[in-house]
Amino acid sequence: MSREKEKTITETGVSSIREIPGLNPGMAEKLEAAGYVSPWTLVVAKPEEVSEKTGIPLVTVQKIIENARRLLGIRFKTAKEVKQERMNIGKLTTGSKALDELLGGGIETKTITEFYGEYGSGKTQICHQLSVNVQLPPERGGLSGRAVYIDTEGTFRWERIEAMARALGLDPDVVMDNIYYIRAYNSDHQMSIVDELFSLIPKNNAKLVAIDSVTSHFRAEYPGREHLAERQQKLNAHLHQLLRLAEAYNIAVVVTNQVMARPDVFYGDPTTAVGGHVLAHVPGVRVHLKKARGNKRVARVVDAPHLPEGEAVFAITEEGIRDAEE
Ligand code: GTP
Ligand code: MG
Repeated sequence: MSREKEKTITETGVSSIREIPGLNPGMAEKLEAAGYVSPWTLVVAKPEEVSEKTGIPLVTVQKIIENARRLLGIRFKTAKEVKQERMNIGKLTTGSKALDELLGGGIETKTITEFYGEYGSGKTQICHQLSVNVQLPPERGGLSGRAVYIDTEGTFRWERIEAMARALGLDPDVVMDNIYYIRAYNSDHQMSIVDELFSLIPKNNAKLVAIDSVTSHFRAEYPGREHLAERQQKLNAHLHQLLRLAEAYNIAVVVTNQVMARPDVFYGDPTTAVGGHVLAHVPGVRVHLKKARGNKRVARVVDAPHLPEGEAVFAITEEGIRDAEE
């Protein structure tokens, strides 16, 4: 990736919150400690949340955010400028042309993509594959960036990364060096990791954050119907935090979510009945994965008016995610 592109967070050339007019060093320190390291992280943040996390009074925070907006030149734009910004959105290949096409050319940056499906449907394999693919240059479908892999279930396998890297003709050691792995031990830990990413990502040119799975801790900690509202509220906050991360740094965020198939449901989609997808209240792309014969899997994009309807068949092979052979 060119230096130009790498500057996404600092398109205006501004990279430190210390450049915000009227911000004293004491406040800057508090903001940085809370993860607001660039003016972009501030302009996309909720003032109430910033105030809560830093102890800076709300009115002051609002003023700071206003100044940050001005500094970054956030204002009315012409349609042509909007077009240029859209063209800035990166696309990351899944390894399968059919699946890429279904997604409108690949996994997009600046948004969250959720893969949901039952056990063995390929969610974890896709996360592994994307962590490798993101390192490819754009002409090969990558984003020339590093990957952050947040594992909540302990199913990450470096051996798989090695095999996938080899299959693409990449040096496995280099590829593994470029994947930052962390095991999240509970939902609070998971959320605090994302806070940390606001400073880790720009420093390390990460272009993908994969969370496998985004829901398991929340489900375990808030079980049953009586905790459903609380669980969804926490999960929504987490997903919004991830969306801000995706937008602020022009990265791809991929989350997985296990849902159980319900053989007793004959009409409609048998998997949305239990658990369902979690992105209902957050903008993003939802992809349902279904097992098919052998190593084949069927993907379907749900609730995406901007993408064509239909299904894509792909395969999980020794080399990784690929098109299914006829
Ligand atoms: P849960 O986490 O249990 O919900 O499942 P998942 O959706 O994450 O499934 P996962 O991505 O783990 O897919 C599992 C499938 O991938 C297995 O059924 C295997 O068919 C395939 N798979 C996993 N590892 C390998 C491997 O090393 N080689 C090959 N060829 N296939 C593999
Ligand atoms: Mg899995």
